[in-house]
Amino acid sequence: MKNVQLYDKSFKPYMSYEEIQKAIDAVAEKINIDLKDEHTPIFLGVLTGSFMFFGDLMKRITLECETCFIRLASYEGTSSTGQVKQMLGLTQSVKDRNIVVVEDIVDTGGTITELYKILNENGAKSIRTATLMYKPGSYKGSIKIDYPACSIPNDFIVGFGLDYDQIGRNLKDIYVLDPEETEKRKAINVR
Ligand code: IMP
Ligand code: MG
Repeated sequence: MKNVQLYDKSFKPYMSYEEIQKAIDAVAEKINIDLKDEHTPIFLGVLTGSFMFFGDLMKRITLECETCFIRLASYEGTSSTGQVKQMLGLTQSVKDRNIVVVEDIVDTGGTITELYKILNENGAKSIRTATLMYKPGSYKGSIKIDYPACSIPNDFIVGFGLDYDQIGRNLKDIYVLDPEETEKRKAINVR
């Protein structure tokens, strides 16, 4: 696989589509077992980044369940702004419901902490979290991340739903920022 160029930055292959699918298999299996006695859970996808993971995860969930989405945003460029804004409210009631939050990536934990606050304020009965990617080295939250499909170092990644300034979400594999290649390309001015 080759590097991809997104605006001013070069990214190198990090995880293949097939590896991602295997990680999702494992997470789905655990969720199907753990929640088998829970009453009709709601899988809550956090937009936009989770859309690919959400689709692939839900195809493997064999439980009776509902699905819905919420949009929160805290990122500009390649680092967190630290402020989490609720852009699109909950589209259905979570009162007395068992919730499985489906995230693309848990980094500092700001987003997930804010989301738990919103869900608790709205009377959720239980909350669990499934995330495609988890950066334990960067995580500052106190909430337990129940189902991390993959744990990764503090590097910036794109693809499979994850973006760099809104582009790269459609890449089917995951790529990681390649600082050397980015500098090289800057020097020779290729894009
Ligand atoms: P947190 O609030 O710091 O945990 O950040 C969570 C959000 O930041 C994710 O839902 C992503 O939208 C974004 N994010 C964090 N790390 C990355 C990354 O490596 N690539 C792309 N987006 C990221
Ligand atoms: Mg996100």
